[in-house]
Amino acid sequence: MYEDRRLRIVVVGSGYVGTTMAASFADLGHQVTAVDIDEDVVEALHAGDAPIHEPGLADLIERHAGGNLEASTAYDSLAGADLVYLAVQTPTDEAGNIDTTALETAARMSGEAIADQPPAERPVIVIKSTVTPPHVETIRAAAAAGAGDETLEVAMNPEFLREGSAVSDFREPDKLVFGTSSQRGDDMLTAAFEPIIEATNPVVIRTDPDTAAMIKYANNAFLAAKISLINDLGNICKEFGIDAYEVADAIGADDRIGEQFLRSGVGWGGSCFPKDVRAIIQAATAAGYRPAVLEAAVAVNAEQPARMLELLDEHVDVEDQRVAVLGLAFKPGTDDVRNSRAIPLIEGLQERGANVVAYDPVASEEMQARIPEIEYAKSAARALDGAVGALIVTAWDEFETLDDAFDAMDRQLVVDGRRVIEPRPGMTYEGLTW
Ligand code: UDX
Repeated sequence: MYEDRRLRIVVVGSGYVGTTMAASFADLGHQVTAVDIDEDVVEALHAGDAPIHEPGLADLIERHAGGNLEASTAYDSLAGADLVYLAVQTPTDEAGNIDTTALETAARMSGEAIADQPPAERPVIVIKSTVTPPHVETIRAAAAAGAGDETLEVAMNPEFLREGSAVSDFREPDKLVFGTSSQRGDDMLTAAFEPIIEATNPVVIRTDPDTAAMIKYANNAFLAAKISLINDLGNICKEFGIDAYEVADAIGADDRIGEQFLRSGVGWGGSCFPKDVRAIIQAATAAGYRPAVLEAAVAVNAEQPARMLELLDEHVDVEDQRVAVLGLAFKPGTDDVRNSRAIPLIEGLQERGANVVAYDPVASEEMQARIPEIEYAKSAARALDGAVGALIVTAWDEFETLDDAFDAMDRQLVVDGRRVIEPRPGMTYEGLTW
């Protein structure tokens, strides 16, 4: 039955979300064209290569490239599409406001590309990029102006994919959010996700585009604030000599609190939480409301690396001494170092005059591009060799079994920001919140 509902979908913007979505829709059986102005990205997709590192994505691209999945630099591939997804990046300025210039251009060009079609046959334009509610209107207006049609359906379908499990998150979402302003918009989105709805029966939230945009920010802000709250409580635990993880296990058993996202430590990083929390604070402030809890969530998060360094300072003066930083990715399972907690930690060590030697199983090259002046070790054991202290920043599994490797340290001092290792006899071990 689904065979009849095979859609033609164009995805404008082949970044992280755009590529994952294009390949995943192709895998559902839709005919997908990924449009990007970057010729290298388009060529890579043609060749069946994944432009980003994400488990399962390379397989999907290889399987569908040249078949269900095509790539192009030209907007004329929008003609005849059922859905046009806008998944263009929205960079952030110093203050945290999102810059929608590129997204507006993509919206206008998409509108222009479909202006000649009869209104009833035009594709539904869907915003996938994360934009604040006031920006939804800006993007809608740009697309409508391009098409010369104020009634053009511009929907919002926010994304909740996690890095490292984006492909499976797409296949098995907890919820789908369809923010539309017409029945046709809702029908199209329902058809696009029909195989998933049939297979996994997720909660489907049908609402207007502004509310859909707000749901995305509320989701990320809530999770980020939850981590900051457990970090705040964890810092109190540390002062009282109490194990925050024992406390978290207990409160997590309360269904109203829930056990997830209660791992206290050095805080949240990545491409979403830091960007989205600051963007919604800026948008709210511009609208006349200062969100005090969210501001505090950011402040607590900014302080956690400094607290880790203070714990190190309590035991050793690191000036001219070798200090190991274990873990550079913002979380395990990815090579992404955007807003990684390792960055302020390395900077803090540099300010103290330490000789930093860093190690990560997959993200060393990424960090080296940002911070080239420190030493990068080929293994955790080599990073620890001769160090007077080690900071554990990312919860990679391999750090759990380093065991004897700590013997090669000049001084066995470990400050653990993620509760990864068990202290060994003879080791000075400081947990950040335990
Ligand atoms: C997040 C959201 O989970 C996802 O729904 C959204 O679409 C994009 O942003 P992601 O950034 O990939 O996904 O990572 P996530 O697994 O949510 O972790 C974010 C950060 O929080 C990481 O730095 C992680 O180390 C930290 N974290 C997470 C904690 O410090 N404690 C926890 O208990 C959980």
